[in-house]
Amino acid sequence: MRLFRRGDPTKEQVRRELWELGWWYQDFEVPPGVWTGLGSPLAYRPHGRWELMDPHLPDDLDGASVLDLGGNCGFFSIQMLLRGAGRAVIVDPFVEFEQQAHYAARRFGVKLEFVAEDVHTYCLTHDERFDYVIFLGLLYHLRYPNLVLDRLADMTARRMFVQSHVIGPPVEFEHEREDYPQRTEDDLLLDPAFPKLTFLERIYNKDPTNWWFPNYAGLSALVRAAGLEIVARPHPEFIVADPGERLGSAQYERLLFPRYRRPGYRTFPGRLTYEPEVWERLLASRNDRPAAG
Ligand SMILES: C[S@@+](CC[C@H](N)C(=O)[O-])C[C@H]1O[C@@H](n2cnc3c(N)ncnc32)[C@H](O)[C@@H]1O
Repeated sequence: MRLFRRGDPTKEQVRRELWELGWWYQDFEVPPGVWTGLGSPLAYRPHGRWELMDPHLPDDLDGASVLDLGGNCGFFSIQMLLRGAGRAVIVDPFVEFEQQAHYAARRFGVKLEFVAEDVHTYCLTHDERFDYVIFLGLLYHLRYPNLVLDRLADMTARRMFVQSHVIGPPVEFEHEREDYPQRTEDDLLLDPAFPKLTFLERIYNKDPTNWWFPNYAGLSALVRAAGLEIVARPHPEFIVADPGERLGSAQYERLLFPRYRRPGYRTFPGRLTYEPEVWERLLASRNDRPAAG
């Protein structure tokens, strides 16, 4: 039996509040038992990713700090706080998700921080280290994924969780050479299993924010090259890594970051809101309209 405090909102109230907050990408159950996705087929359930992380976390996070990049409406940060983390910071440029994350956290009685900023600029302007860094579903959305991964490796005190869509079969490439001589070894570089990051000049899957897809060996190569040590790969798309040798960072008083965009689409980096027509389409995909209050 679930216990409710006097004054806790009813399911109908929560359903109305979730509805007011728009379209939720992460679909999870918030107390007193309402799913954030509100029946939208475009929402996704993040529980499978959490199950991959879970065995690689202590039972009690004992006040640890968490950085959750592209953390959306907060599912992973909330899980970490419920597990005893002392602080969770989400970095995600979309203000729609900021309100949702704070709301969802409140429903669980925890508090998170939300920085509505781009992960590139965040990583280049903050030198804090976090015990746990959560980097799921974001690498391929980045124009400069290596730059971010290199910084994150330096910002991770204990463990990082990396998830990315990967293309091709799950085959690790066994390097037989330390050095690949030009031309004579080019065929080896063309081997489908050779670590690769494929650049998407055009739009992939109707999403103009997809830029790069690694293959299986490419994802592990990127993680290792950032100085991290892979401790587990519980799924072809998922890597658990710990910090290795730290090289630190060079500090410049003035360093410029380029604006970038696909022609006809929004410009990054910055604090962003969804394009109205895209948001309207997402709102229209919800099926579980609450009863009028
Ligand atoms: C595919 S979703 C993954 C959400 C969450 N990490 C998960 O695994 O469920 C990508 C998230 O990254 C955010 N995002 C996209 N571009 C970003 C950027 N440049 N910096 C930070 N977050 C970004 C999106 O707003 C979205 O919340």
